[in-house]
Amino acid sequence: MQQMLVTGGAGFIGSSFVRRMLANHPDLTIVVYDKLTYAGNLDNLEDVSQNERYKFVDGDISDRHAVERVLASNRIDTVVNFAAETHVDRSILDPDAFIRANNVGVYVLLEESRKHRVERFLQVSTDEVYGTKPSGKFKEGDPLEPNSPYAASKAGGDLMARAYYATYGLNTLVTRGSNTFGPFQYPEKLLSLFITNAIDDQALPLYGDGMQVRDWLYVDDHCAGIETVLQHGAPGEAYNLGGDNEQHNIDVIRAVLGLMGKPETLIKSVDDRPGHDRRYALDNHKARVLGWKPSMSFTSALEQTVAWYQRNEWWWRKIKSGEFRQYYEAQYGQRLKGK
Ligand code: NAD
Ligand code: TYD
Repeated sequence: MQQMLVTGGAGFIGSSFVRRMLANHPDLTIVVYDKLTYAGNLDNLEDVSQNERYKFVDGDISDRHAVERVLASNRIDTVVNFAAETHVDRSILDPDAFIRANNVGVYVLLEESRKHRVERFLQVSTDEVYGTKPSGKFKEGDPLEPNSPYAASKAGGDLMARAYYATYGLNTLVTRGSNTFGPFQYPEKLLSLFITNAIDDQALPLYGDGMQVRDWLYVDDHCAGIETVLQHGAPGEAYNLGGDNEQHNIDVIRAVLGLMGKPETLIKSVDDRPGHDRRYALDNHKARVLGWKPSMSFTSALEQTVAWYQRNEWWWRKIKSGEFRQYYEAQYGQRLKGK
């Protein structure tokens, strides 16, 4: 592992992974390849921008010629694919971009990686590919029963990585991480949206009864898991990266408001998300055997995250004043009016 391509490295988790890998591996060179969609942001990589072992290339993972060029001209030996359309609610409004990035894009990356004899390919997948689980925890061998266009498109990419191992012998790995939170998360997901709304004393639109369960994982722990799987995972295998930290949405939001000293009257119950998965929970034993475990306590990770958004308004205010406004209106306008 010397010349790594990190696709989607200008997003939330990808940028954190790039920082981590540059710090932990002094001989590693990283090329970030990212289309800079609404969620991609070079501010996320500002602190590594002067590092001689880092380079940025603007491009789409579904653009075969551009992918071919970036692999060949940088003699890439390892690919870690974070690039994806990632928000369930946007996939419900318009699935098109999800199929292009998460299916066609993954296919193009795999195909070009095979042709260029890439030595290791890690596809970053998600717990959402399994669907919902009323009790117990998902294991890697369980059936994939995705319920949103986002989750279904991620399941397609996940299985295509497996197929490239079985069919062509490409050395692929898959990680299925649980709900991730921390600094630099585009403010459309539950925690980043609600913390930034609460700073401005705006309503927090809680879907349905708020009793849905998510398994929360701090971003540094997620990245450490990907690093471990990349180094020690067995070819063709998938690994759950679950936080062992199941929480009802309403409890997470109450904890955030408590930390911020804001009133619970900010919570506004709105119409539920169609096809809303009730509960996610991952069995992470297989990744633990490789030497990984989530290390941050939820309370201190939440404290650090809240403090980061409070200190870094420069980062999220410009996002919330751009394209985000049209999205927010389409997603929440009617719901918040109670219609
Ligand atoms: P993000 O939305 O913050 O970032 C996605 C990045 O991919 C952006 O920089 C965007 O510009 C880039 N991108 C999108 N389409 C592209 C394309 N066609 N070509 C090149 N670049 C493209 O997402 P994130 O939260 O950092 O998630 C990263 C990965 O982790 C995704 O694959 C996601 O499915 C997975 N994941 C996320 C979570 C979570 O809770 N956020 C949990 C488990 C797995
Ligand atoms: P989200 O952060 O979108 O992640 P995912 O859908 O991948 O789990 O949502 C986390 C949970 O929070 C999910 O149960 C939906 C809920 N949610 C709300 O109640 N209101 C919101 O405005 C958002 C964005 C999410």
